[in-house]
Amino acid sequence: MRIAIMGAMPEEVAPILKKLGEYKTTEYAKNTYYEATYKGVELVIAYSKIGKVFSTLTATTMIEHFGAEKLLFSGVAGAVSPELRVGDLVVANKLSQHDLDITAFGHPSGFVPEGAVFVEADASMIDLSKEVASEMGKSVKEGIIATGDQFVANEERKNWIGDTFQADALEMEGASVAVVCDALDVPFFILRAISDAADMDASFSFDEFMESSAIISAEFIMKMVDKVIDNNAK
Ligand code: ADE
Repeated sequence: MRIAIMGAMPEEVAPILKKLGEYKTTEYAKNTYYEATYKGVELVIAYSKIGKVFSTLTATTMIEHFGAEKLLFSGVAGAVSPELRVGDLVVANKLSQHDLDITAFGHPSGFVPEGAVFVEADASMIDLSKEVASEMGKSVKEGIIATGDQFVANEERKNWIGDTFQADALEMEGASVAVVCDALDVPFFILRAISDAADMDASFSFDEFMESSAIISAEFIMKMVDKVIDNNAK
């Protein structure tokens, strides 16, 4: 089995590479991919760079070039749900592109013909994440993640995204990765730890907490990888 682990920024994959210790580095399509053998399975790891286009390229490359059969994403997000605090974990059950807008033609936000407003994540990996959460004694919120090519630092925009997509958290890569995995029939799991509240203080909060929240997310993702491997061996 070959599993992809991706992030968007170096800080999101650094804790994973640190845990692996040894890996092979390959340059491909203007990005760096790290390959390692871990508990008998092949891992391919990369950070895409920020945004929907780069994350689409990286997810596609991990699947089509490196042969990934499952994909797990680890990173940080802005909270939309008022329940969520910095460091809290959110698992996406469905994802939408909040900046995909042809509403001028009467379509709903996030929709284009032959597409769908939401892409659903793999239910069995979400189930496994519940086992991981209880084993770690952590609470993880399952919810909707909205993605766009925009760092949201504005209460009005955040509330619009919350109202329009019932989103719990927002970020800049999840839904594009979801579209790729769904199209290529690769089960995927998108995890985020909150770094900010997508409000007027978001950039300061992000700068302060991005690295610590990325570590929280990466630790959980590695436990998820362990669980996926154990489950696959059954
Ligand atoms: N990732 C983390 N915080 C974010 C925010 N406020 N907007 C977009 N992406 C984010």
